[in-house]
Amino acid sequence: MDSTARPYRSVLYIPGSKERALDKARSLPADAIIFDLEDAVAPDAKQEARATLAAALGQGGYGNRTRIVRINALITEWGLADAEALRDAGADAILLPKVNAPSDVDALADIVGPEMPIWVMMETPLAIFNAREIAAHAQVAGMVAGTNDLAKDLNCRSRPDRLPLMQALQTIVLAARAVRIVAVDGVYNAFRDDEGLKAECDQGRDLGFDGKTLIHPAQIEVTNAAFAPAQEEIDLAERQIAAYEECQAKGEGVAVVDGQIVENLHVATARRTLAKARAIAEMEKG
Ligand code: COA
Ligand code: MG
Repeated sequence: MDSTARPYRSVLYIPGSKERALDKARSLPADAIIFDLEDAVAPDAKQEARATLAAALGQGGYGNRTRIVRINALITEWGLADAEALRDAGADAILLPKVNAPSDVDALADIVGPEMPIWVMMETPLAIFNAREIAAHAQVAGMVAGTNDLAKDLNCRSRPDRLPLMQALQTIVLAARAVRIVAVDGVYNAFRDDEGLKAECDQGRDLGFDGKTLIHPAQIEVTNAAFAPAQEEIDLAERQIAAYEECQAKGEGVAVVDGQIVENLHVATARRTLAKARAIAEMEKG
């Protein structure tokens, strides 16, 4: 799953137990959905959620949104049954929580087979130390920052600038980028605070994340806008490409746009910006 091939701006968690939310998601403009069997579902509701979710996926109607199922960790009493019940339910990927090492991914791969893309929650200190090896696992296609769990394990404080989480967040982006897989930022808990959400989205985008995980539909619009190339970025990319091509035609290797140099690497970034804008337009056409 190359992160330029399709957008992962907004990745919405939906409790697998909530039929109403599962239905509502069919019309929400999220790029991807995480159908959750883990923390959004109470222990007593786990078994029923499995069946409710499998039925919803079977019914379909999720259009071109990427469908990701988050199962319970395999060390819990529910994980194995989740994986067995959902592996053929029509999901595009299975998301494994509490991953510590590549061997955790192997254990899931043994159950779901070699074809199913696996996404991993990066939410334990060990996962951050092992990020490079986890990302390099052949079946891993995406990484999701589990910032609430990380904050719990680190015993750090919640701050608007997320300084205590910065090393972990940047390690996730580095590991994902090293092997060109998707990296999605953690959730913003205050789901009625659009301004705070926007600031955290901008920070995640600045860091290099492809998008952000969300807990409520009200967060989608802000997030989609924050992770899409802005019109000024698109305009600049087009001008950079045009200026560079003009220079090349004259046998020169460096162009200047708005007082800044443009070399082949800047052109690669500009082309990626345009490809992303096209992928978003394609997605929004439905
Ligand atoms: N996905 C899809 N639909 C959702 C949704 C979600 N994550 N969260 C809320 N909705 C729907 C509700 O079903 C409701 O639909 P309706 O108007 O048709 O009844 C509508 O959006 C408005 O919901 P609202 O009343 O504002 O929220 P709530 O009080 O019902 O729920 C939460 C708030 C936080 C409990 C709920 O959003 C939620 O469970 N989010 C997911 C939490 C989660 O997945 N956590 C694990 C990962 S961190
Ligand atoms: Mg978690």
